[in-house]
Amino acid sequence: MSKEAIKTRIAELSKDIEAHNYNYYVLDKPTVSDYDFDMMLEELIKLEKEHPEFALLDSPTQRVGGQITKEFKSVKHKYPMLSLSNSYSTEDMEDFDRRVREGLGLSNDLFGGAVDYVCELKFDGLSIGLTYINGQLQQAVTRGDGVQGDDVTTNAKTIRSIPLKLKGHYPNEFEIRGEIFLPRRAFDQINKEREEIGETPLANPRNAASGTMKMQDSKVVAKRKLDCFLYFLLGEQVPHQKHSENLEAAKSWGFKVSEHTKVCHGINEVLKYIEHWDKARHQLPYDIDGIVIKVNDYKQQQHLGFTAKSPRWAIAYKFKAEQVSTQLEKITYQVGRTGAITPVANLKPVLLAGTTVKRASLHNADIIEKLDVREGDFVFVEKGGEIIPKIIGVDLTKRPEHLAKTKYITHCPECNTELIRHEGEALHYCPNENGCPPQVKGKMEHFVSRKAMNIDSLGGETIEQLYEAGLLRNIADIYDLKKEQLLPLERMAEKSAQNLIAGIEKSKEVPFERVLFAIGIRHVGETTAKKIARKVKNIDTLSSLNKEQLAEIDEVGETIADSILDFFSNNDNKIIIERLKQSGLQFEINVEDVQPGSDKLKDLTIVISGVFSKHSRDEYKDMIERNGGKNSGSISKKTSFVLAGDNMGPEKLKKAESLGVKILNEDDFLEMLK
Ligand code: IVH
Repeated sequence: MSKEAIKTRIAELSKDIEAHNYNYYVLDKPTVSDYDFDMMLEELIKLEKEHPEFALLDSPTQRVGGQITKEFKSVKHKYPMLSLSNSYSTEDMEDFDRRVREGLGLSNDLFGGAVDYVCELKFDGLSIGLTYINGQLQQAVTRGDGVQGDDVTTNAKTIRSIPLKLKGHYPNEFEIRGEIFLPRRAFDQINKEREEIGETPLANPRNAASGTMKMQDSKVVAKRKLDCFLYFLLGEQVPHQKHSENLEAAKSWGFKVSEHTKVCHGINEVLKYIEHWDKARHQLPYDIDGIVIKVNDYKQQQHLGFTAKSPRWAIAYKFKAEQVSTQLEKITYQVGRTGAITPVANLKPVLLAGTTVKRASLHNADIIEKLDVREGDFVFVEKGGEIIPKIIGVDLTKRPEHLAKTKYITHCPECNTELIRHEGEALHYCPNENGCPPQVKGKMEHFVSRKAMNIDSLGGETIEQLYEAGLLRNIADIYDLKKEQLLPLERMAEKSAQNLIAGIEKSKEVPFERVLFAIGIRHVGETTAKKIARKVKNIDTLSSLNKEQLAEIDEVGETIADSILDFFSNNDNKIIIERLKQSGLQFEINVEDVQPGSDKLKDLTIVISGVFSKHSRDEYKDMIERNGGKNSGSISKKTSFVLAGDNMGPEKLKKAESLGVKILNEDDFLEMLK
């Protein structure tokens, strides 16, 4: 392809991909198959890599992430980011309307002087201010303390519904504010993955969304499926004098504006809107925690002005967390995959926020103690921002006489092992990780899962069946299974048994990094396993490292180092690993996965500084050694060159310049090794 043709192709792909993004994420109307979309994106990534000079400033490849933000820059808001005052009842709302009408001199109007309000859903996420200059996304800043917030532009660019480039007739410069949130399905998915690696689930989508926006690695943010509704336009050149019309305009420029926004004439229509959404909110695919009501006309807004903290022309109506009272029939205890014990309240079924609730979490022993909740009590159950309903109190007026005080269990309800509780932790654990049925089965489910050993012929039900039949007691047993043992089992025909064995056999090719993830060391997720595998190369080295050595590995902090040490100090684990080795699993990094060595850097002393996007620091250190070079921590006359990423330390930079030491970026460096 000629250079001109490549340039045109890059522009064409960028435009088409963004159009598909818009149709899918803003309009909710996909216009291309996932496969075709992925192919286009892949082609664009490749072309941009080969010809970075043609990549557009607003290229959709930025949505895939990859850039790291080491520290979020603090930015002063051009317009302070105010919050709204809250109201909780019809009376509060009527008071608000009265204040507005009085403020506007309409209260004595013969016809009631009804004001036009815009009613909007109050999205439960984190607020964001997006600045656009000449139609291009310039900056995304969080609310912070309202005066200044954090620059999270790189992460915001990965959110597909935030336009990188606008359409139509927009002002040259403006800010638009909105809410970044996590749809409930995406939230459930994150928690499922967290549970798989033994992390505690996140409490609610709001925390998950704000946690995600503060992550340093935008690639991880890109995977999180955040979304963004916009609801407030600011700037000197906004096109209309009514909020509702500006929202319509923003929609035409490509922003995602909620279709549920409505202009209401007078307070009675507002109250109807509130009443409707108080019930209908449970059917939305994302959480809202109330309704926002804004005076539509800008002249009226101006006339009303602001108090010190919030506008007088807007208010938030907050939904009450729904609450019911029901009887607690029994407290049972669940054992999770990591051995964590969760006390569960089994309730007399009751209707709450659109669903029948039969169970609620009681969290831990301290909460039971604090609430003094007892079997037989009448309890108040609430469904707030959290997914699982919680018990918020006991109705002591209804407590039947002689109810026994709850005694927390001391032994595991599944395997009868004595429970432990670590210093400073709220949860009790069953320490019998290789013998307690739910822990063992959970470990196996994780082991066979797609991102681990990917044995899809061995699903949860089959694991249960094989466990019950006594054929599986730990992950190493999987590789001892024989077809003849499977055939007598229910629902197991010749073909399925054969498939099962073939799937197990095939998994022996799974590379070391995934095996390391599969064996289920607490807190070692997919990415950490990859980093560890690349660094240590094989399991024997890993098991021989001490805490300090472990903590030197990228992504391994004290908690992970401790849990790796714990894992290898357990004799059962040692036996299991030994058996898996005998079965032929990959416990060493495959030499073909690692780039071959050379002597291209022979006699060179290299200093690494800054943050890199294509490889981690450890990977670069490794490359230097493999190619005959020497890593050094400080710059001196002997330094051959500095391999510098983003945000290279200013001291280092000064020193390199004063000594005349060359500075190479990662592209130069990779080119050198080619
Ligand atoms: S308008 C001056 N509209 O609720 C008006 N806020 O305390 C500024 N929020 O910080 C806000 N949905 O994060 C507005 N439709 C909506 C909203 C909304 C959610 C959040 C926002 C703000 C808080 C209000």
